[in-house]
Amino acid sequence: MIYRGGGQERTNSVDRIAFDRALAELGAHRDEVAPFDFAAVFREDSARFSAFSLRFDDLLLDWSKTAVDRRTMELLAELAAAAGVEARRDRMFAGEHINATEDRAVLHVALRAPRQAAMAVDGRNVMADVHSVLDRMAAFADSIRSGEAKGATGKPIADVVNIGIGGSDLGPAMATAALAPFHDGPRTHFVSNIDGAHIADTLKGLDPAETLFVVASKTFTTVETMTNAATARKWLADALGSEAVASHFAAVSTALDRVAAFGIDETRVFGFWDWVGGRYSLWSAIGLPIMLAIGPARFRDFLAGAHAMDEHFRSAPLRENLPLVFGLVGFWHRVVCNYPARAVIPYDQRLARLPAYLQQLDMESNGKGVLLNGAPVATPTGPLVWGEPGTNGQHAFFQLLHQGTDIIPVEFIAAARGHEPELQEHQDLLLANCLAQSQALMKGRTLAEATAQLVAKGVAEGEAAALAPHRVFSGNRPSLTILYRQLDPFALGRLIALYEHRVFVEAQLFGINAFDQWGVELGKELATALLPVVTGASEGDGLDGSTAGLVAYLQAER
Ligand code: F6P
Repeated sequence: MIYRGGGQERTNSVDRIAFDRALAELGAHRDEVAPFDFAAVFREDSARFSAFSLRFDDLLLDWSKTAVDRRTMELLAELAAAAGVEARRDRMFAGEHINATEDRAVLHVALRAPRQAAMAVDGRNVMADVHSVLDRMAAFADSIRSGEAKGATGKPIADVVNIGIGGSDLGPAMATAALAPFHDGPRTHFVSNIDGAHIADTLKGLDPAETLFVVASKTFTTVETMTNAATARKWLADALGSEAVASHFAAVSTALDRVAAFGIDETRVFGFWDWVGGRYSLWSAIGLPIMLAIGPARFRDFLAGAHAMDEHFRSAPLRENLPLVFGLVGFWHRVVCNYPARAVIPYDQRLARLPAYLQQLDMESNGKGVLLNGAPVATPTGPLVWGEPGTNGQHAFFQLLHQGTDIIPVEFIAAARGHEPELQEHQDLLLANCLAQSQALMKGRTLAEATAQLVAKGVAEGEAAALAPHRVFSGNRPSLTILYRQLDPFALGRLIALYEHRVFVEAQLFGINAFDQWGVELGKELATALLPVVTGASEGDGLDGSTAGLVAYLQAER
């Protein structure tokens, strides 16, 4: 199938004619190279690994096990040029309002830039503001971590409970789990769900006198967070009296007036700005729980890792630029090959929350159906993103990855070194499994091989012929591998920034706005309207038959 751009106008610096031509050529090229025989291309091209992998310091991105060749990369580079990806990247770094539907700049890169950098929004350098909040966070974190800032009864803080959801939860929750070997502060907990079970289970076993709540919400209106924060305040006030609230609450928000109304002492309120999207906010004060857990110096290493990737993204030529190449291969899989999903499999238990974090980053950014100008898209947009750590996933859903009817590109992520030198055997087994899975996806197993293997095990020929088809793996299934030396704050920051910029690159190729999220609004509005119906305060006249039936059941069983 030859892909066509659909003739819509794309805004920005897009050369639509060149884009549609490159896209059509990519479709034709995909058909020409199919079926792409991985074993053959590795045999014929001894330089394939070096041609289809990139390094940035110790970070390695390998896409040699995907069905791309040198021509594919040329066409993808033409596509990126036609889509104006680099020009738009520069507009992002320049603080332009590239989030057009919300008329906002997109400058999370400023949050990890050094103090002396010059990054401006609407003509104003924001670096002084960024570092002033960082310095205040560091002073606060130091005072909590050292025990100098105590709870109302004079006990030091032993547990921090972050109350937030979406971007105000997933980033800090993912990063604090990832950086467990560096924890030397209070224990951190995360409450996000409106389900009372979440806060109830979290508070069980915590001592109010030793607990600090961080209420994290960009808007300070999100119903989940406000409800959980009110429950936490009551829990604390019931135990220690309402005057104790001041020493047990801090807040992170862009809506400082609403925080003040909630009653949190302004010395414990840390702001950020509307040019920081929720799912890009863990670098801002939203990262406070990370800083409380690992300390300000290591938090700055985390920011430095992301900044290193920003500089690479901003300056490396297209073909040597990891986020650009990562995005181009992603586009190849999603649009040219029409694969509906991608699996992210960290071979690192501490990255267990990475797939969930990337679900918001990728799917809330690129799960869009209209172009920047509001016209419907003509190509698929963001894929379904999912995953679990290896090796657990191998014993759950890898069956489908190997033999299912959909092809799902897999992203393997692993560190060369673990943090448990005394458990080196575990690390060796982990890495062997990681490599084996990408190899198995690529190599597969033919019917003849499966039959021969059964016969070699002593199975009679007739029986072997019957069983062998179940043991065939098509192979030639694409995967990418990301490796780095060790998961430390710097490496984590760099990895997350790589993924952020990949999402950006893909969005420019899709022609969509990655920085709004109108798709989450309708459900919120309907939940507000349904609340009185669920409680029985209103009849719910005019409800659709299905919802009315469900409400009737719930009311009967309440
Ligand atoms: O899910 C929608 C969303 O707006 C996310 O983008 C955001 O991260 C989350 O809700 C939480 O919003 P807030 O930080 O304003 O509470």
